[in-house]
Amino acid sequence: MATAASDDSEVAVLKFADGREHRIKIVKPTFGDDVFLDIRDLHAKTGCFTFDPGFTSTGSCMSAITFIDGPKGICLYRGYPVQELVERAQALEAAYLLLVGELPNPKQLEQFRGEIQKEMLIHEKIKAMFNTFTINAHPMAIMVAVVGALSCVFSELDPANELHRNLACIRLIAKVPVLACMAYKSSIGQPIMYPRTDLSFAENFLYMMFATPMEDYKVNPVAAKAVNAFMILHMDHEQNASTSTVRIAGSSQANPYACIAAGVACLWGPAHGGANEAVIEMLEQIGTKENVAQFVEDVKNKKEGVRLMGFGHRVYKNYDPRARVMKKMVAEVLAELGVVDPLLGVANELEKIALEDDYFIKRKLYPNVDYYSGIMLRALGIPTSMFTVMFAMSRTVGWVSQWNEMVSEGQMKIGRPRQLYVGTPQREYSCVITEPEVDNLSQAEASNCCLFGQTSGASGQEHAARSATSMKVKKASSFKMVVPDVSTR
Ligand SMILES: CC(C)(COP(=O)(O)OP(=O)(O)OC[C@H]1O[C@@H](n2cnc3c(N)ncnc32)[C@H](O)[C@@H]1OP(=O)(O)O)[C@@H](O)C(=O)NCCC(=O)NCCS
Repeated sequence: MATAASDDSEVAVLKFADGREHRIKIVKPTFGDDVFLDIRDLHAKTGCFTFDPGFTSTGSCMSAITFIDGPKGICLYRGYPVQELVERAQALEAAYLLLVGELPNPKQLEQFRGEIQKEMLIHEKIKAMFNTFTINAHPMAIMVAVVGALSCVFSELDPANELHRNLACIRLIAKVPVLACMAYKSSIGQPIMYPRTDLSFAENFLYMMFATPMEDYKVNPVAAKAVNAFMILHMDHEQNASTSTVRIAGSSQANPYACIAAGVACLWGPAHGGANEAVIEMLEQIGTKENVAQFVEDVKNKKEGVRLMGFGHRVYKNYDPRARVMKKMVAEVLAELGVVDPLLGVANELEKIALEDDYFIKRKLYPNVDYYSGIMLRALGIPTSMFTVMFAMSRTVGWVSQWNEMVSEGQMKIGRPRQLYVGTPQREYSCVITEPEVDNLSQAEASNCCLFGQTSGASGQEHAARSATSMKVKKASSFKMVVPDVSTR
């Protein structure tokens, strides 16, 4: 990896009120206008920490995988604009690019495809897990469990060994889409369909989702092109919440399959990958174009915390380039499939009104990748609950590439931020209850104890009465440590 440049003449000086000075090195990336203050020695030299909840001003690592220019609306994978890759590359080519660093030649691509295909089978023990989930379990809940369970099957792994690392990355890229489709098939009670070696990555996804053993299934090329585009657009996005989660989990040298499961969990939330599902729910609630203006008013008034889902981004302060591609794809796919979706009209009207409104202009809120993707997936017949799962299977490529980069580049300092403590100062320990359980105490007995920290105004008895009646008292027994009986293990 080319390292970021720092020039000794370029420093920032931090001046304290007591006259102390601390010189901070300025570091610049290999591309782009961002400027970083290297504060790695700040605490050692000054005793100070920085305070940055949500990491709005913090770079957590060096990476050569994805570049984003938020103000200009640029997204590059290993230097290539993402929209060009969508137009010209197959999903597996983009995956190879992100993982290895260069586009593959035809021979390398064939070899990569073969390696992926070899790893698409799922261990029968993992497959058996699908029978244990409740029928209406959200497929993302299932994904968190089954991706994590891969670490049971592939527990032997030496992260220092390049071959081991590559194999883990290949396995995850190969298996997560299969697990995703298994989650769907089992949720609708249909038999699981295994992938076919004669189909492309995107075609296989559609085959595993929609084929049944009853009849031949022909993959629609329009749908395959749309899935290919979706996969590429979602593969990586530098240090977003789920990727940072994977890196932090990996920094403890945890098993990579477990790290990716942590990424899946983080992605699920509506502020992140769950937004594509939330956009459709929002558009359905709005219902018709006539209701758009009122909805925008509600958003501006922050009525019940309502947000315009699929709008806004921590980094993009301009139109998300992925959203631009997605908007074009939606129109093409709907036209080619002959699908008329009234939600597209609602979405277009909502975008138009929002982009002309001062609230959104001032805050630089534009559509992000999730705004239009759901409408395209609906047109392909993909159920809403699978939208975020599709995001997860695509982002798996980025997660493993980032994990592999972190481990191979030796950027393994454990992620361990500090906090600005705002709790109680040190105090004396006064009373502990162990037996009998609090619920069984008489008021007189309880009055001798201080469960919640006695307030100066309340007597012991008043406090006990409150504890025993209106408040839910935590049973002392619930704090007991359970020591397993070794003889029964
Ligand atoms: C993506 C997102 C989490 C980024 O959040 P962030 O960078 O932390 O920005 P903030 O939440 O601090 O928002 C800054 C301001 O814009 C407003 N804002 C941000 N996104 C908004 C949205 N989608 N709708 C309405 N207002 C929004 C906030 O209310 C805040 O306004 P204020 O200054 O009056 O308090 C946020 O834009 C969001 O929730 N978007 C909707 C969910 C979504 O589409 N997620 C997918 C991202 S790819």
